Amino acid sequence: MAAGDSGDAVAKVLAAFREEQARGVASRSDFERLKGRFLGREKGLVPALFAGVRDLPPSERAALGARANAAKVEIESAVAGLGEDLARREREARERAAAVDVTLPGRRAPTGGLHPVTVVRRRIERVFLRMGYSIADGPELENDRTNFEMLNFPPEHPARDTQDTFFVSKKAKSPLLLRTHTSPVQIREMSRRGAPLRIIVPGRVYRNEALDATHAAVIHQLEGLVVDRGISMADLKGTIEEFLAALFGPDTKVRFIPTFFPFVEPGADVAMTCIFCRGAGCGKCKGSGWIEIMGAGAVHPKVLENCGIDPEEFTGFAFGLGLDRIALLLFGFPDLRLLLEGDQRFLRRFAFES
Ligand code: DAH
Repeated sequence: MAAGDSGDAVAKVLAAFREEQARGVASRSDFERLKGRFLGREKGLVPALFAGVRDLPPSERAALGARANAAKVEIESAVAGLGEDLARREREARERAAAVDVTLPGRRAPTGGLHPVTVVRRRIERVFLRMGYSIADGPELENDRTNFEMLNFPPEHPARDTQDTFFVSKKAKSPLLLRTHTSPVQIREMSRRGAPLRIIVPGRVYRNEALDATHAAVIHQLEGLVVDRGISMADLKGTIEEFLAALFGPDTKVRFIPTFFPFVEPGADVAMTCIFCRGAGCGKCKGSGWIEIMGAGAVHPKVLENCGIDPEEFTGFAFGLGLDRIALLLFGFPDLRLLLEGDQRFLRRFAFES
């Protein structure tokens, strides 16, 4: 190889390197390829220049060796610079990926939600708390006396047949049973606190029922009771209208149909405008435009007396409704069993917060 050729070779390698350097390296593999191409020990272009120098006559070696060396120094330092640059960009990319974007909305922690029956209970409680009621509670394991007798169901009265339940012990002086309604809490509260009184009583109740789309052995009720001087059916009606309008909308109408419950006189089945057809008549209300929603009435004087309240001085009204049924109406569920099965797909869909 002639000296001129070798000199050209140095220039060519430098030119080739500068061209690549100008293009830059986009990735680590790009960088490794470039580094290998010029500085690789086996096949690198720079080591090859020194091989060429060895073949020259000694007189030319020094000059070319110096040029090759200069090229090597330039290329090595440039490659180191490219390497540092790449490392910096890699570090920046890592940091960007790991960075917290404080402008993003927060991630919600999975806290669960309220069961539809709980939502309904709390909505109703809010309405009555606003009206000055307090919330009372009673045992689910009741005795026959409080669940029936004191509420004016005589021992063999057929009204008991509508509320068959699970007896826990028939041996006790007053048989123990799972309460069939929240009404016995009327007895407990009136006996304990006397009059005047204004309470609601949400709670679980039991019936000996076969399970179907509208019946279950365990359901939830909410009882209301007001006892004071001068309370009349008009107070009951106004209260129920107010309550149902708050829950179902202001255009909800209310209708009272006389019926019998042993612990009220007069007693009424309360119906409201069908929420599906707004009163026009549909399949859900069997064409009537009305949906029965609760039982109510004026507290029977005997019941007041049973609790030590003078019916000459005090009168009252009471009402009772099923919370599960209200949940079905309010949220449009077709089947009561959905509320009982604990199916997460259903509950997640209806896990409300209020
Ligand atoms: N306790 C009744 C039941 O479970 C519902 C009821 C009717 C409650 C009339 C009342 C009332 O307070 O006045 O079927």
